[in-house]
Amino acid sequence: MERFRSGYGKLIEDTSVVPHDSAAALEAEILRVGADRVAAFFAEPVIGAGGVFLPPEHYFADVARICQKYGVLFVVDSVICGFARLGNWFGIERFGVSPDMIVFAKGVSSGYLPLGGVVVNGRVADPFWNQEGNPFLHGTTYAGHPSACAAAMANLDILEREDLFTVSREVETHLDSALRGLADHPLVAEVRSGVGVMGAVELTEEALTERGITTAEVFSEARARGVIVRPIPKALLVSPPLIITWEQVEHLTSTLYGALDAVMDRH
Ligand SMILES: Cc1ncc(COP(=O)(O)O)c(C=O)c1O
Repeated sequence: MERFRSGYGKLIEDTSVVPHDSAAALEAEILRVGADRVAAFFAEPVIGAGGVFLPPEHYFADVARICQKYGVLFVVDSVICGFARLGNWFGIERFGVSPDMIVFAKGVSSGYLPLGGVVVNGRVADPFWNQEGNPFLHGTTYAGHPSACAAAMANLDILEREDLFTVSREVETHLDSALRGLADHPLVAEVRSGVGVMGAVELTEEALTERGITTAEVFSEARARGVIVRPIPKALLVSPPLIITWEQVEHLTSTLYGALDAVMDRH
């Protein structure tokens, strides 16, 4: 995301960013850089904080095939999409592919205690487990902290006991249809939702540039009415708890509609 980079300089050297909706663009970039110089490709199952962008059909199947073809590790960032937000453990199962590595955090403990982790497949793990004198040395001070892990284990039990995977798929449908109701608002260019309990309401260019409306204003109006959404430069994002009720979904979207009306009246 540009706003996390500008003013900071290059964060990690020797990385490329490719369009999120084109597997062909990934292949072209691997060929441009040279396959032997590409270690890994990272992607989120659904782009979260970047604006809730759903992958095009076949995107992940194509990407997984390209990564395999060129010996590039396929790494999935499930920090937002994991732990039932897409109705399964890591989100990526939705697209029928198996990555080499998965990074996760947030939902593993539902935020009650901080925990993040990496899952790797046998091909990646093997050299560290089975080759003499080659342990994995990189770690952090609090890696595997017992209290955080205990909280996560309790949380995972709840996910299973309350079958939040099934609940999530129902909430996804409700949220999607409720958010679609915002699409006809004059300030709204597009609603993106329908895969996972998450969505984006993007404002029109006309609202943002000609009328000078900011998403921060919409955020403030919604917050004043008791609903917190996340403003990014062009859109308002929602990613509510998986146990949100149908009434609360309605409340969320009708409040957001009211907030958009209030901002429109001011401009
Ligand atoms: C998709 C995604 N990946 C990674 C991170 C960072 O995770 P952590 O704070 O556990 O390093 C975030 C944080 O919001 C995120 O949304």
